[in-house]
Amino acid sequence: MTATSAASAAYIVSGLLFILSLAGLSKHETAKAGNAYGIAGMTLALAATVGVVIGDISAIGLILLVIAVVIGAAIGIWRARRVEMTGMPELIALLHSFVGLAAVLVGWNGYLSVEGVDPSDGGPVLTGAESGIHSAEVVIGVFIGAVTFTGSVVAFLKLSARIKSNPLVLPGKNWLNVGALALFAVLTVVFVLEPNLLVLAVVTALALALGWHLVASIGGGDMPVVVSMLNSYSGWAAAASGFLLGNDLLIITGALVGSSGAYLSYIMCRAMNRSFLSVIAGGFGNEGSAASADVDYGEHTEIGAEEVAELLRDAESVVITPGYGMAVAQAQGAVADLTRKLTDRGVDVRFGIHPVAGRLPGHMNVLLAEAKVPYDVVLEMDEINDDLAATSVVLVIGANDTVNPAAAEDPSSPIAGMPVLRVWEAERVVVFKRSMNTGYAGVQNPLFFRENSRMLFGDARERVEDILRAL
Ligand code: TAP
Repeated sequence: MTATSAASAAYIVSGLLFILSLAGLSKHETAKAGNAYGIAGMTLALAATVGVVIGDISAIGLILLVIAVVIGAAIGIWRARRVEMTGMPELIALLHSFVGLAAVLVGWNGYLSVEGVDPSDGGPVLTGAESGIHSAEVVIGVFIGAVTFTGSVVAFLKLSARIKSNPLVLPGKNWLNVGALALFAVLTVVFVLEPNLLVLAVVTALALALGWHLVASIGGGDMPVVVSMLNSYSGWAAAASGFLLGNDLLIITGALVGSSGAYLSYIMCRAMNRSFLSVIAGGFGNEGSAASADVDYGEHTEIGAEEVAELLRDAESVVITPGYGMAVAQAQGAVADLTRKLTDRGVDVRFGIHPVAGRLPGHMNVLLAEAKVPYDVVLEMDEINDDLAATSVVLVIGANDTVNPAAAEDPSSPIAGMPVLRVWEAERVVVFKRSMNTGYAGVQNPLFFRENSRMLFGDARERVEDILRAL
């Protein structure tokens, strides 16, 4: 068996392991096994790839390969060990940008080593159809990779609050996107007919600008969909590189990541009542929305931890709606203790989880599972929303956009139409946060000023611990 056919066999096994990994990751109970399959598949794929190239490369090439693997692995292990749960989305966005950049480099390398070399100087000779397909692979791979690269960099900057999460609204922004796509189609035809460096450079610059603009035009509330869309784009970028490199595993893996990312985006869009096409087209049609930051909602009313303990003591039913602030404060352990204490006193305590609460799909579920809150009291938004009107007290712990009534009541709000937890229908609402600042979408929350709302200021964990002491 040659090294190449052994590698092909290993790639098929890796592909199967990746499919098992995705299947495992789709359920709580099998997620650990899913991760293990993924690690095994990637280790096998790396070993097979190194096995194939080892026979072909010079000693210097081998040394460079080892250095690259060691540096890459060291950085990967260091970042993965250090990252906080709250920093995961931006790390994922950054990793997507690397996939995009790699696809751009593979595309350019494909051009420089085939179309860019004269056959009389030893360049490969491709026949008509082969040459057209190769050029199309180059230009499409570079385009998808460059869009993914800058799109992911903007997502990283927005998620890590290095730039504002408000949507960028350039005049005629939708037409800019449509124009860029039309220009790309024309340039692809030109490049396939007559490959040349200038056209490839223009396509690269166009795609870098388009990726930047697409994600910059999307508002904070829609970022979850964007992250999963970029996940999908990075998969297609990897698949495009697979075609160029003639690597079956990259094609399979890229297609798996591309299609599962697209499906996750579709599920997220449905959960947030957003149009899938509108989000992938860079917030198409959102030009009319205006932030409601300047509206005067009146005065808010503060409350102390002892008074909240008093309220909870007398409550029949309590619903806790956690959000990103619970993750920042690492309040899940204290929240779990509060749940146990209230349940022991005979209070009916349940959780209402919004599909995009926090910064990652399933963020709140992971934190509550870590704190050993029983699964059966943790309900999805749709399962709890109709019960909120009959609830004595809702504790909004570090959530903001996901409980904002403006989404349901103000058609001019940037988050209008997004389904939210209707916590304001409860008898009493206590909001745990540190200030009157807005949430991720940068939109003021009228809930804080409602008559039945009380604000409990301070770090969520410290305040929950104060309540526990007072109970
Ligand atoms: P957010 O709207 O982000 O609000 C979090 C709130 O927590 C803030 O109002 C903040 O107010 C408070 N907070 C922060 N640190 C705190 C602490 N130590 N103690 C107490 N409160 C603290 O939260 P959300 O309701 O979970 O909504 C999630 C948002 O993120 C949505 O807009 C969603 O679209 C977006 N997003 C979600 C995802 C996924 S997949 N889940 C990914 C990207 C973006 P103070 O600063 O005043 O304390």
